[in-house]
Amino acid sequence: MGRMPRDVISILDFTRAEIERLFELAEYAELALRRRRKLRLLEGYTAALAFFEPSTRTRLSFEVACKKLGMDTLVVVGEAATSLAKGERLADTIRMLDSYADLIIIRHPRDGAARFAAEIADAPVLNAGDGAHEHPTQTLVDLLTIRRLKGRVDGLTIGILGDVRYARTVGSLLKGLTLFSPRKVYLISPPFLRIRESLRIELKRRGLRFEEVDTLADVISELDVLYVVRLQRERFPDPELYEKAKGSYTVTRELLERHAKPDLVVLHPLPRVDELDLSVDQTKHAAYFYQASLGVPVRVALIAYVMGVERELRELAAES
Ligand code: NCD
Repeated sequence: MGRMPRDVISILDFTRAEIERLFELAEYAELALRRRRKLRLLEGYTAALAFFEPSTRTRLSFEVACKKLGMDTLVVVGEAATSLAKGERLADTIRMLDSYADLIIIRHPRDGAARFAAEIADAPVLNAGDGAHEHPTQTLVDLLTIRRLKGRVDGLTIGILGDVRYARTVGSLLKGLTLFSPRKVYLISPPFLRIRESLRIELKRRGLRFEEVDTLADVISELDVLYVVRLQRERFPDPELYEKAKGSYTVTRELLERHAKPDLVVLHPLPRVDELDLSVDQTKHAAYFYQASLGVPVRVALIAYVMGVERELRELAAES
């Protein structure tokens, strides 16, 4: 098998074969975790969770994953709680974390911050979301959810609805999809929230078949998967634009019942605001809580992989 990436900054740090291998490893992680409360494969190692931006699922699932593997965790939440608030350079904070920890998991409001950290630190760095740029571990969760529920990613028609301009989960998912062969991807957003030109060029260069459209109603009946994201309010350059965009798209049960294929799968990285109506939760389309539940096994698998205990995890799963 190919090289093992130590840092995971972009979903494109992986080949398709490596992603498939991580999916398999996530299954082993689930199997092992079903039988034992703790896997103890990385006892004595420390993970730094440096979250300089709000997070619920990503931070908690990373923290649970680290602890299940037996690691100690050092959790930093928010710039206000660190010396960054006193004017310390991010580079110095990273150097310090690198000396205390064997693995650095970072979320930061600036695009490129995870790459910057990886260049400084000797420990492997996992990007838990950098600005509007990427969120590769969420993409592993998203792709695995699709694979499990639809049996494949290739050949599917996938709609991505909402703020595709500023949502990093969308940037990573689109890049990840270039490693597969979906039949078609619809990017559904108000015209002023289209993907950025640099990403558009990259997706074209990589041969992804995609189309940018304004309204969900025009394409919903074609979709096998609908991936919804909230407006990334904190990344809007101007509050007026946010006011204009607010409430411009909402998925409701009625819309799904009227137009969707019976086996349409609806995903959302969460948190949702008002773009995904609560009425959708009761439909058979809703898969976002299942999606969130895969966060732990995927991250256990990924950490085992970058920390070099993949074989031990497989053995644990086999014996348990
Ligand atoms: C996403 C994020 O932080 O980019 N959340 C997550 O990790 N599941 C999505 C979002 O904030 O909208």
